[in-house]
Parts: sequence; structure tokens; C-alpha cells
Amino acid sequence: MSFLLAPFSLKSLDLPNRVVMAPMCMYCSGEDGLVTQWHRIHYGARAIGRVGLIIQEATAVEKRGRLSPNDLGIWDDGQVKGLKEMVELIHENGSKVAIQLGHGGRKARPGKQGTIAPSGIAFSKDFSTPGEMENKDIKSVLNAFKEGAERACEAGYDAIELHGAHGYLIHQFLSPHSNRRQDKYGGNLENRLRFPLEVIKVVKGVMPSEKVLMIRISAVEYFDGGYSFADMLRAAGAFIDAGVDVLDVSTGGAGLSAPRVWPGYQVPYAQKIKEELGAPVIACGLLTEPGMVEELIGNQRTDLVALGRALLRDPNWVLNAASELGENNIIPKPYKRAYPEDI
Ligand SMILES: Cc1cc2nc3c(=O)[nH]c(=O)nc-3n(C[C@H](O)[C@H](O)[C@H](O)COP(=O)(O)O)c2cc1C
Repeated sequence: MSFLLAPFSLKSLDLPNRVVMAPMCMYCSGEDGLVTQWHRIHYGARAIGRVGLIIQEATAVEKRGRLSPNDLGIWDDGQVKGLKEMVELIHENGSKVAIQLGHGGRKARPGKQGTIAPSGIAFSKDFSTPGEMENKDIKSVLNAFKEGAERACEAGYDAIELHGAHGYLIHQFLSPHSNRRQDKYGGNLENRLRFPLEVIKVVKGVMPSEKVLMIRISAVEYFDGGYSFADMLRAAGAFIDAGVDVLDVSTGGAGLSAPRVWPGYQVPYAQKIKEELGAPVIACGLLTEPGMVEELIGNQRTDLVALGRALLRDPNWVLNAASELGENNIIPKPYKRAYPEDI
């Protein structure tokens, strides 16, 4: 069997293969944050396409944490029904599904609501200046993450991922660039880790112990004045100690500078974290070819591989990879005639 199609098990999460759909915002909800036909078809198609684990797009735990007024939401009990039906649709068609719980902080663009962040510094001139979070805001956001996780469990997700990357709220607390607080939430790394660890604690508090918790991190920030990869290694270790099961390793997003990118550019960070912490990791970033995935899994540089844009272009990426690797047995019966064994 190919490495790409090898199953992966962790706690109650049993994946049929190593391919993960990276979380990708669709901005296809109304102001109500409800699941739409777009989401059902979009995620359902990737389940038919045999993606091992779909990580649903950043889903807002608070209205003021939305990246746009059209974000998918999990801030209200009324949103659970649509999410649950979508989870069932994905399960019926063979994939597992995680939800990415998100809060944009100063990078939110929720429409009418004002935004909040660790410090009152705008992300750029195109974003509004956020209010500096008071203790009551910290409490209410923690409660929103807790309730979001409760609703995610009720909806039946196989795993929960916290969005701790790309310059959004959790990342904003971690980075000395966006966190200039003088209280116990700012200053040294231990203090900057306090809010992310509190989020992990409240979320874990409502999750069954067998359900997998993942966190997406930005391993490096690509500018001076941010945290270093050494800091992030320490932070990732603290996340594992706090009960995170999988580290989903991305980079950047906290500043305006765009890094130079190439196929696999983020893999060395995932590999180093895996080696140093012995924790399962997801590697991502311009991975497009089955051969790349074979190399990464086969050489144990990562446990899982996430594809973003390649899966937007081709919902049947896994089926085509399986065919290329000579493993047509995973092709769903109705599609078999598109993949004859003898050509
Ligand atoms: C349309 C789009 C939306 C995205 N939304 C999210 C998101 O909701 N959460 C997140 O962590 N990353 C998001 N990302 C980043 C992707 O998950 C992924 O890390 C990035 O696209 C690099 O992987 P790729 O080269 O395979 O596309 C998004 C990317 C795209 C293209």
C-alpha cells in the first residue's frame, strides 16, 4: 500500500488515509453564519473524493471575530442543526471532519461590530483599530470558544482544531508584535502563552477525552520583532503539555510581508516540531503531487499532509492519486468506469 493511502489512528480518530483538506474560508454564509448549499456541495464533493480528513474552514466563535460578514459561524445554538447535517453528509460519504474554531481579533472584518485584540493596534491601514481586550472581553471570548467546542461536539465533528495561526486572535496574543500588554497576558513568552493555554483548557474541558484536539500554528513570523521558531517550539511544547494532540504547522500571517514560497516550504518546521516534540504533525504549503506526499510520509517527515488549493482545483485529487499509485480499490463504485484498471 502507498504511504499516502495508509490509514492513521489517534484516540477516536480513524482516518482512511493521510490526505487532509486544509481549512479554507468560503465566505458563503449569510449574516446568520448558517451552512448553505455551497458548503454541503463543496465539502460533500471532497468526501466523495475520499479526502481522509476535511478540516472545515475557520468558523467564528463570536460575531465580532468574523473575518467577513459571510463567515460560517458556531456562536449560536441555532447553527448546530446545519453543521450536524453537514457532518453526517461527510460521514456518509467516507471522510472524517474536523472544525476549525476561529476568532479574527484585529484581523476580523465583521461588518457593524467593533473588533477586539490584545492591544489596540490596527493590523494595517485597511483594518479598523481594535479595542484593547479588558478582562471581561477575555472571559467572554474564552466562553465563546468553550460554547463553540460544545456545539462542535454536539454536531458530531471527529476533531476540533483551534486557529492559532495566520495573525488571528490566538496568534495575536502569542506575538510580541501584536501583544504589547503590560498585564499577565503580555510581556514574556510565558505570559503571552496564557490566553492560548486558557483557550485550550476551556475547550478541552468540554471535549470527550478521546476526541482529538488540534491547533494550527504559524511556526515563524517572517519579520523582525515577532517570535522566533525557538519560541514557537516552546509554545508548541506547552500546547502538547496542555493536551493538544496534533500540531497543524503553517507560517506567517501576522505581518504584511509576503514570504518567498516554493513546494513544501513549510515542511521543515513541521518535521522539526515532530522530531523535537514527538507529536503528530500536519504539513502544508504548495503540496500538489502524489509523489511529494509519498516522500513526506514515507520518510516520516510528517504524519499527515494538508492540501489547500490543489483540492479546490480538483475535488478528486485523492482518487486521481490512488489511480496513479495503482490503488483503484478506493474509487467509489459509481466512478469506477472513469478509472478502468487496464489502461
Ligand atoms: C481560499 C482560501 C481560504 C483559506 N482559509 C483558511 C482558513 O479558514 N483557515 C486557515 O487556517 N487557513 C486558511 N487558508 C490557508 C490554507 O489552509 C493553506 O494553509 C494555504 O492555502 C497553503 O496551502 P496550499 O498551498 O496547499 O493551498 C486559506 C487558503 C485559501 C486559498
